[in-house]
Amino acid sequence: MKIIVAVTKNWGIGCRGNLLFNIPEDMKFFRETTLNKIVIMGHNTLKSMPNGKPLKDRVNIVISADNSLEIDGAIVCNSVSETLEKVKDYNTDDVFVIGGQTVYEQFLDYCKIALITKIEESIDADTFFPNIDEMPNWRQIAMSGANYHEDIKFRFTIYENSNLMD
Ligand SMILES: NC(=O)c1ccc[n+]([C@@H]2O[C@H](COP(=O)([O-])OP(=O)(O)OC[C@H]3O[C@@H](n4cnc5c(N)ncnc54)[C@H](OP(=O)(O)O)[C@@H]3O)[C@@H](O)[C@H]2O)c1
Repeated sequence: MKIIVAVTKNWGIGCRGNLLFNIPEDMKFFRETTLNKIVIMGHNTLKSMPNGKPLKDRVNIVISADNSLEIDGAIVCNSVSETLEKVKDYNTDDVFVIGGQTVYEQFLDYCKIALITKIEESIDADTFFPNIDEMPNWRQIAMSGANYHEDIKFRFTIYENSNLMD
């Protein structure tokens, strides 16, 4: 299982239910990486999608405590354990945790790889990704050169969780 996320300098990921930036190259990376794969998201992240709808051409798993919730085009799971059971049906390398904060926090320990787009700006946020630079089991193993969208600098990075390496 892998994480995919875009963070600012202070590990911010969202504000008032929305993303902090709209960087087309990062959106393209997200789409190409997750296309035809399985994505796990929290109910708030689903609500933040265009029209509040699941992503096309992906198996969408949405986590909610509401056990009567039904979503057209998505599988609803009511707990982390139910979600982990459900994803056993798929190749683990094809499963992506796509946010938001509460879901990243709960699934971090189950993920082997984190694909982190680092946006080199600080901006007010109300939701965050854990600072994995401070976690001894997470190590950055790759970093792209600097990319720019207008005057916003960003890099694609990859982190590995040594607790889950063979
Ligand atoms: N920068 C990025 O890459 C990125 C990616 C994704 C999202 N985001 C941003 O992150 C923000 C949303 O994050 P968030 O933390 O507020 O919400 P979230 O994690 O997307 O969703 C939280 C909701 O998920 C459900 N949930 C979570 N854990 C659960 C569990 N163990 N059992 C049952 N249900 C569970 C609950 O839904 P119910 O209330 O239905 O019970 C909970 O209210 C938005 O601003 C979004 O734009 C950023």
